[in-house]
Amino acid sequence: MKSSPINLSMTDKQARNYATSLPFDRRLYRQDIEGSIAHARMLAKQEIIAAGEAEAIVKGLNSIRKEIERGKFQFRIELEDIHMNIEARLFEKIGDVAGKLHTARSRNDQMALDLRLFVKEEILKTIGEIKALQAALVELARANKDVIMPGYTHLQQAQPVLLAHHLLAYFEMFQRDRERLHDCLGRADFLPLGSGALAGVPYPVDREFVAHELGLSKVSTNSLDAVSDRDFIIEYEAAAAITMMHLSRLAEELILWSSSEFSFIEIDEAFTTGSSIMPQKKNPDVAELARGKTGRVYGHLMGILTIMKSLPLAYNRDMQEDKEGLFDTVDTLHSSLEVFAGMLKTIKVNTDRISQAMRTDYILATDLADYLVKKGLPFRKAHGVIARLSEYAMSRGKAFRELGRREYREFSPLFAGDVYDITSESSVAARNVIGGTSPQQVEKALRRAKRLTKR
Ligand code: ARG
Repeated sequence: MKSSPINLSMTDKQARNYATSLPFDRRLYRQDIEGSIAHARMLAKQEIIAAGEAEAIVKGLNSIRKEIERGKFQFRIELEDIHMNIEARLFEKIGDVAGKLHTARSRNDQMALDLRLFVKEEILKTIGEIKALQAALVELARANKDVIMPGYTHLQQAQPVLLAHHLLAYFEMFQRDRERLHDCLGRADFLPLGSGALAGVPYPVDREFVAHELGLSKVSTNSLDAVSDRDFIIEYEAAAAITMMHLSRLAEELILWSSSEFSFIEIDEAFTTGSSIMPQKKNPDVAELARGKTGRVYGHLMGILTIMKSLPLAYNRDMQEDKEGLFDTVDTLHSSLEVFAGMLKTIKVNTDRISQAMRTDYILATDLADYLVKKGLPFRKAHGVIARLSEYAMSRGKAFRELGRREYREFSPLFAGDVYDITSESSVAARNVIGGTSPQQVEKALRRAKRLTKR
């Protein structure tokens, strides 16, 4: 067996262990091999190497991929990274011809390519998972389409809304997350190969051919930029951070709603834990963990931004630190989205508890003010009247509907018998504007949402 001439000359063992990226960048083996195969084919097509040489290289690379996938590959930390490990193994397999693969290429443009291919794939996967989560939200909303719940501001009951409307608010957030990722995909989608170490390569390469082979839609237009920016990773991590922020808010609400104080919902036992000493407890661990994991995703975004700031052009070894945060972001996002979609499907809505929560009907105060406005009172005045009326009702422990006609009229002569027609049903029905919570609007929104989970 031929051994490789690759020598990275870092002789201190501690330094080598410090500098290696192999323990994490081995994850990029597939993209690395795919990129090398396209590069070798192009070199032959351009007659930079012979056709037979490219054939041997491609064959060798394919068998290396199989070795890795079967767990038969001997990874060697002293060879620093995944690129060197694969190339060294290629020497063992096909001899000196292996040395031709790295013609017109540098590890700098090679790594930039591997990462772009990786990020592209992960974006598509993430978008699919968000879509599945949205579908679960739509299902839950549809199944509880008529449920009216208190809507909150400052976590104080504010105005009635349909539960479906509340859930669809998250649908919208996740829809924008999908769009953000899609935008990010467009900017990640170019070929850095051909940039060489930093200045471009002195060979008649066909960059468009390589881009096409790899399913990339264009080639980079500045070699220094192509090997030295990681903005596509930052963008992915930023989009991931925003998605996790949205997920975390939803998690927080599920946690609140499943508490005994709210009891609006029940999360299935498959997604909760019991306490070892308090038998009454059902802890919403999955939701809590998603909320908690949001922190590490934010952390990775701060990490990569900080790594990249102030780096002079072009490649610097600091940039090797781009990978672990990216991988952990990808893993955290995938697992959180998946488990959340599963959990949403098991949620039971406790309709009685939700309507009990609005028993006092003070949540209809805005509707009473709007009632007076419709009878001619300026809104500010109406607001004042209802503020006094509310104080009166609360101090007597009465709901609005329990006040007598005469009591109402002490606050305004505009009150008539139809004031008793104001209910949470009439309140939501009245909000029949685009984006409002009326059943008619929410029905439309549900249909649109369903369509968007199919595309
Ligand atoms: N292991 C390196 C990284 O992940 C690969 C590129 C190394 N390039 C170099 N010129 N040392 O960034």
